[in-house]
Amino acid sequence: MVKVDLSHAKLNEDVLSYQSEVSRIHRMIHDKTGKGSDYVGWVDWANTYDKEEFARILDCAKRIQDQAEVLLVCGIGGSYLGARAAIDMMTNPYGKKDLEIIYVGNTFSSTAVVRILDYIKDKEVACNVISKSGTTTETALAFRLIRQFMEEKYGETEAARRIYATTDAKNGLLKPLADKKGYETFVIPDDIGGRFSVITPVGLLPIAAAGIDINALMDGVKDATHDYNTDDLTTNAAYVYGVTRRILEKQGKSVEMFVSYEPHLVFLAEWWKQLFGESEGKEDKGLLPASVNFSTDLHSMGQFVQEGTKNLFETVIRVVNPIEDMVFPSDEGDLDQLNYLEGKSLNWVNEKAFEGTLEAHEITGNVPNVIIEIEKVDAYTFGYLVYFFFKALAMSVYMLDVNPFDQPGVEVYKRNMFRLLGKTK
Ligand code: PA5
Repeated sequence: MVKVDLSHAKLNEDVLSYQSEVSRIHRMIHDKTGKGSDYVGWVDWANTYDKEEFARILDCAKRIQDQAEVLLVCGIGGSYLGARAAIDMMTNPYGKKDLEIIYVGNTFSSTAVVRILDYIKDKEVACNVISKSGTTTETALAFRLIRQFMEEKYGETEAARRIYATTDAKNGLLKPLADKKGYETFVIPDDIGGRFSVITPVGLLPIAAAGIDINALMDGVKDATHDYNTDDLTTNAAYVYGVTRRILEKQGKSVEMFVSYEPHLVFLAEWWKQLFGESEGKEDKGLLPASVNFSTDLHSMGQFVQEGTKNLFETVIRVVNPIEDMVFPSDEGDLDQLNYLEGKSLNWVNEKAFEGTLEAHEITGNVPNVIIEIEKVDAYTFGYLVYFFFKALAMSVYMLDVNPFDQPGVEVYKRNMFRLLGKTK
């Protein structure tokens, strides 16, 4: 389902030589004995999730579609990136939609916030506010504005019917507020951190509201859970990828650049950057996760990859079958001199761009390329792929002897900001 091709990765070591370390860490992940093991609920989530809550997600998604022209997804970091990755991947951005999704609560930009409030003034709206801690300021600030707007527009009772809160079962300020106001609530499990939460109600409600098949998504997660439940490096592609990252780091690389050739995968890259950056960038360790979208960025960052500092490797996500394709037409006169492409498909051209770039970066530029191949972009593959990355990440970060599941560093800016804002409690 997910293939990892290392034939262009320029590895100096054999991945298989890491088998005993991988077996040890695999046991740690599954026995919950590693650092941060209170947060490995995602490992077997596909077999343990609450089916009654899942049915409620499907019902509410339908209700949102009936209620609203715009769904405001109010959350930041792990509380929105996964949903946005899935929705961008699988929905067409052009054309009139029955339900438009707008992401709020992920910035303090006054311009961004005011523009959205202005845009939704005359629209029928619903809101899914998502915050595990229930105290994240970007989200809480935007939600207060949205809540007041909705209560003014619809009255308290109808506003409450249109607001859905996804939060911790007990902690934080959002849960008591939601209970008091009578919102439909969904639970973020205690043992699943934000950046692993796309497979919980955090991701599933907005993804389902966008019309994507979350049953198929969870089937993908389930199959990946089964397929990657082995320590065997000859079959576990997730662990192969996780180990490969560490080998390339030992070879002097400090940047991993996630590459896709599809604009609708840009937010998958954003999600991947959070997953890897927040999980492994600690204790002065870790690869810097970066991303580019080719061929667009070949006309900007491509120069650096080709001839700049040799501190990076590329991880290319390759989609075998595109969602859409068409045959390139002939043109009488051939004034643009493109008739040599007549009869070829647009995806074939994209493929040749990939092959030519691979050769340029690997052979001429001496930049290692790890290729991760998926057959197609659909809900099942998305579920399978995110679990592949979870498992790869856990292996890779435990190999650094770092806790993959906390993010102590993100508190520092908050402390400073709260002091400057005069926050007292
Ligand atoms: O991965 C994480 O834990 C973070 O990115 C959080 O998801 C993000 O900070 C939002 O937190 P919360 O859901 O508590 O509002």
